[in-house]
Amino acid sequence: MSARKAFYVTTPIYYVNDAPHIGHAYTTVAGDVLTRWHRQRGEQVWYLTGTDEHGTKVERTAEANGMSPADWTHKLVHESWLPVLATLDVANDDFIRTTSGRHRHGVAVFWQRLKDNGYVYEDVYEGPYCVGCEEFKLPGDLIESSDGEQLCPIHSKPVEMLSERNWWFKLSAFTEPLLEHYKRHSHAVEPKSAYNEVVSFISSGLSDISMSRSAVSWGVPLPWDSDQVVYVWFDALLNYITAIGFGASPDTPEGERFDRIWPADVHLVGKDILRFHAVYWPAMLMAAELPLPRKVFAHGWLLVGGEKMSKTKLTGIAPSQITDTFGADAFRYYFMSAIHFGQDGSFSWEDMHARYTAELANGLGNLVSRATAMVVKYCDGILPEPGPYTNADRNLQDSLLAASERADSAMMRLDFSAGIAAIRGFVEAVNLYVTEQEPWKLAKDDEQTPRLHTVLYVMCESLRAIAVLYNAVMPAAMTSVWSRIGALPHLGPLAERDVTEVSRWGQLPPGALVAKGGALFPRIEETP
Ligand code: MSP
Repeated sequence: MSARKAFYVTTPIYYVNDAPHIGHAYTTVAGDVLTRWHRQRGEQVWYLTGTDEHGTKVERTAEANGMSPADWTHKLVHESWLPVLATLDVANDDFIRTTSGRHRHGVAVFWQRLKDNGYVYEDVYEGPYCVGCEEFKLPGDLIESSDGEQLCPIHSKPVEMLSERNWWFKLSAFTEPLLEHYKRHSHAVEPKSAYNEVVSFISSGLSDISMSRSAVSWGVPLPWDSDQVVYVWFDALLNYITAIGFGASPDTPEGERFDRIWPADVHLVGKDILRFHAVYWPAMLMAAELPLPRKVFAHGWLLVGGEKMSKTKLTGIAPSQITDTFGADAFRYYFMSAIHFGQDGSFSWEDMHARYTAELANGLGNLVSRATAMVVKYCDGILPEPGPYTNADRNLQDSLLAASERADSAMMRLDFSAGIAAIRGFVEAVNLYVTEQEPWKLAKDDEQTPRLHTVLYVMCESLRAIAVLYNAVMPAAMTSVWSRIGALPHLGPLAERDVTEVSRWGQLPPGALVAKGGALFPRIEETP
């Protein structure tokens, strides 16, 4: 491995109190698209996801299911959370579980360091706690129900009143350093609305916060007080460093990995957990004298009936309910293109079906089947040599250049829908080109054979570019296109093709063996 800093992307680690729904899948897919894109720019990439297994919420769920927390988390991770990665075609480099030895060790080392650095002291906590959020709530965070009960606004459930002696983290010491940091790094939290929210929260002054729980046993014990465990968020956030070797000595392979990967380039999070990632987490890192993440990106929620989709509210849809009908590629395409990353969005079967039919089955699928079928029919499946290019051919090459540049800059700023729109625009341009060039008419006139060959070459070479550009979003379908146009033996594996060189025309060599295949995106007649 080279010593070059890896581009490090993380998802939140998911609570294993239940099986994944498409809100969770949404973040994991976004991270996968982002990391595949960066890999195709020739960068070293590290993509981490995992599960958050300690705390009251998981402990109570296990109990309600008549199992020990250890058995319960093991079952859920293996039966639900790991399989969903395969369902969605996610190529993560690692999967961290907070119950693992490497994590628990790192957590103990970290908090001992903060205690040694003078940032941890003992006191009493009295106040509200939401088990759904696993969060000590501030009075201003709550809403009141019609019968006067204090509710968590996210879970619409009553908070619990805690009164316990525990250990505190001196968060207040970091008000000024954090404000200074965000003044200097105005892109460290995105989108802008999230940045503003974070800065205004910090500006109102930070209070110290409890970092341990005495009434909970399912967690990592404090190294200096084994009657208490680390508060679940202050255990979970550390996954981003324990997974890559924090806590190991610097001259071991794990320690070397930490130096090569940290800091994170992007922490992807839902907007509900922004404060943990953009306030508490950097303060913890400052206290430990570690570098801060370069960016926290807060995306919106998938909504059902105007509210956050959630298992608690019984509105969760399992990813397989969608992939069983549409496939993983269409799932990835739909959620990354139909919802602007950073804003809320609603899922509907009708919208998914309409976009699938128009953009994938008719738009892209049709282009692939027309191009390959015509090369098979008119040229025995051998990609012909192009003749001289006309303006129409050159215009298409220009639109590829523009589309690839737009796609790259959009993907780099996590604007997935704009990135996909740029690529889709090129697919539409190629379809228009085919309609105007009418290769099926050229095939009827022997004198037009050189022109027919040029048009067929342009179509397949365009598909070569489309496969490279869409690979991050739809890896399985694009790998199939790659093999249908005969690219693999000449150009090597698709995932290794650089997106920044995609517009260089003429990469697919004449003579490549082109084959037809089944429908890339089979028509789906009925919405389920
Ligand atoms: N365990 C914590 C995260 C710890 S990270 C150090 C947690 N887990 S969670 O399972 O409740 O949520 C994980 C992520 O899923 C969050 O980013 C959350 O925003 C996201 N989503 C949960 N429901 C969602 C939607 N309906 N829509 C989009 N994302 C949603 O919080």
